[in-house]
Amino acid sequence: MNILQVSAEYHPLLKTGGLADVTGALPHALRAHGCDVRVLLPGFPAVLAGLQQAAELLRFNAPWGAELRLWHGSLPGTPAVQAYVLDAPGLLDRPGNPYEDAHKQPYADNHRRFAALAWAAVQLAQGGDSRWTPQLVHGHDWHAGLVPACLVHAGGGQALLPSVFTVHNLAYQGLFDAARFPDLGLPWSFFQMEGLEFWGQVSFMKAGLHYANRLTTVSPTYAREIQSPEHGCGLDGLLRRRQAELSGILNGVDDTIWNPATDSLLPHPFSQDQLLGKARCKAALQTEAGLHTHADAPLFTVVSRLTEQKGLPLVLETVDGLVASGAQLLVLGNGDAHLEAAFRAKAQQHAGRVAVRIGFDEAFSHRVFGGSDVTLVPSRFEPCGLTQLYALKYGSVPLVRRVGGLADSVTDTQPDTLASDTATGIVFDHMDAAELAHALQRALALYRHPTQWQRVQRAGMRQRFSWDEAARQYAALYRELIAP
Ligand code: ADP
Ligand code: GLC
Repeated sequence: MNILQVSAEYHPLLKTGGLADVTGALPHALRAHGCDVRVLLPGFPAVLAGLQQAAELLRFNAPWGAELRLWHGSLPGTPAVQAYVLDAPGLLDRPGNPYEDAHKQPYADNHRRFAALAWAAVQLAQGGDSRWTPQLVHGHDWHAGLVPACLVHAGGGQALLPSVFTVHNLAYQGLFDAARFPDLGLPWSFFQMEGLEFWGQVSFMKAGLHYANRLTTVSPTYAREIQSPEHGCGLDGLLRRRQAELSGILNGVDDTIWNPATDSLLPHPFSQDQLLGKARCKAALQTEAGLHTHADAPLFTVVSRLTEQKGLPLVLETVDGLVASGAQLLVLGNGDAHLEAAFRAKAQQHAGRVAVRIGFDEAFSHRVFGGSDVTLVPSRFEPCGLTQLYALKYGSVPLVRRVGGLADSVTDTQPDTLASDTATGIVFDHMDAAELAHALQRALALYRHPTQWQRVQRAGMRQRFSWDEAARQYAALYRELIAP
């Protein structure tokens, strides 16, 4: 099956969050399931720079007249992944964050930037590459939301090709003023409630949800949650109507990148049978982060975008108590200025016990998981969450809120789950500082029982969240849609 994957991010070229990890892993994992996956990416500077053996494939005009180019080449990885990259001078070649300017404001022309991506997908669906034609298009998040709509328009009302649309985060919708609609290259008949209109605005997310043949999201629990007003971000009605075509496929972990036994980014390798290396990683991390090198001080860590979604105000509320109990906290993250400042202030207040690194640092994130005892993920909502999966693999016990993919991947430590060796973390229910504080105390109590602690740690390290299983489910979905 020839599958065209469309996304804004792709690990290892460009990553602001878990989306990149997923789109970087899927083409490889799907190969074993009979899929030839090629990727279509926007030509952000890091993507253009990473494209190897690049050759111009075609030129086409954007709906607003500008000339756009599509390059073909390959991306690093073994074996290499074939890629198409949209080159739109003046539109995509901007330094820094792919979506926002230096003042953290979304680019005013984001609708054009990602509409152009959708029309590039249509070029390929129409045979733009004579050597390879996709049989299905799989788009990810709102950046690719317009693809299914454009396929329908280009096919004269019947989609040129079947499409799958995956929601990684319903909270980011790609909403634009209706005045921008003419730039999209679609007729006004698409701008209606039974289309991509959302309370008078253009919604790229809704375009994907309305026009794609199948919808998926990144965990079974989130697939249910988004059908409720609480988590549906105003789109729950549409999602309930499309319930039969919506499913949840849990993300996996790429073992070639996230494996403490082979991870060259760790100062010392380790495994569930040989945890000595982990103790060394912890000591090295404490030194690197400027924390006291106390081997027996439980080290709690956060690796996260610092946004509303991640529930971090609760961590700020509970950190004094945590430190008073003898624990340490290390935060690696970037995002909202007020959260960055608040964590910095906590690090100053508790020097040697709380440390903060503001920024996005892939290599450091590996060392954090490697040295961490507990990974905190107290999210308000979490479509899947990858950091708790990496934590499990790296012997860091995840402490999470029971929501979305966190609920699907971590089993709370209770007498029965401990006895059956199925306990893998600490889970709490409500967005409430007292509840988090209680969960933190449970983690501390467990830590003080080394035998029980190691049972939980090892049970977590044994978990297999494999991309192979997720790929099997995606391939089954593709097969249903591609006529034999
Ligand atoms: P989300 O996609 O909502 O940000 P996920 O848990 O799915 O959440 O994925 C986040 C990804 O980004 C993980 O690979 C995590 O390790 C990484 N990450 C988040 N913040 C940072 C950071 N400041 N530095 C390095 N990696 C980070
Ligand atoms: C989103 C979600 C996160 C998920 C990731 C990859 O960014 O916030 O929960 O793990 O996408 O699917």
